[in-house]
Amino acid sequence: MQTTKRSVISEELRRRFARATRVLVLTGAGVLAESGVPTFRGGGNSDVWKGMPLDVISSARMLQSNLPAVWEWFDQKREFLENLKPNAAHRAFAEWEQCFGDFTLVTQNVDGLHQKAGSRDVVELHGSVWRARCITCHSRFEIFSNQRRAQECKACGDALRPDVVLFGEVLPPGVFERAAKQAEKCELCFAVGTSAQVYPAASLPEIAKAAGAYVCEINPEETPFSDLCDEVLTGKAGEVLPLFSQR
Ligand code: APR
Repeated sequence: MQTTKRSVISEELRRRFARATRVLVLTGAGVLAESGVPTFRGGGNSDVWKGMPLDVISSARMLQSNLPAVWEWFDQKREFLENLKPNAAHRAFAEWEQCFGDFTLVTQNVDGLHQKAGSRDVVELHGSVWRARCITCHSRFEIFSNQRRAQECKACGDALRPDVVLFGEVLPPGVFERAAKQAEKCELCFAVGTSAQVYPAASLPEIAKAAGAYVCEINPEETPFSDLCDEVLTGKAGEVLPLFSQR
């Protein structure tokens, strides 16, 4: 099938959207852009903390050598994210969760903005800055914005680390598998605000497509995945997504 690139939703997609019960959405840094955060490949990757580039401060190696420094980086990141507001894209997905019988929201983002917008079940492939995890027993603890974060594990007393997938680490067991299972059975799949370059996340729309889903990308720019999609909606997530609830 030929990819349709457009800035308006096709009648075909509207029909499928109206009838679908099994829908999967994959989001990336692009959905955060309209909340005021640069995407990774749009400048965020060049973040530097105390002279260290992102892939150094936020890495498995740094975790081994200097856990307090890693926490310091994530603490300031949380402080920054805490003041951000969800945008129209986040709100649209929170609504979609209520509309479809089997809706799966998978994100590569670690900021918690989907939940802040009202999404209750979010598959966080790369973890969350709003959780800590024990380095020994792997117990997870929520971090509340108005409270001091725990310093040690309440279960075994060992050190806690941010529950985020760092550079040089693999995804936590089970998370991708859950997303892949949903991708295999969805009828409609949206890839929104992701450059589709980082695997295994980028394989989810591919899995959906191979299993027969209608796949739509929403992005102001082309990605390596665009040509594989049934439909590409060229535009900003916060502008395109609200159009699904309008005629
Ligand atoms: N709406 C939709 N998409 C947008 C918008 C917007 N308003 N603004 C930018 N984009 C698109 C860009 O065109 C780009 O394709 O969002 C995409 C962002 O791509 P990346 O910065 O590569 O972010 P992402 O795909 O989420 O990166 C994946 O890479 O470094 C890792 O772990 C990190 O989770 C991250 C992963």
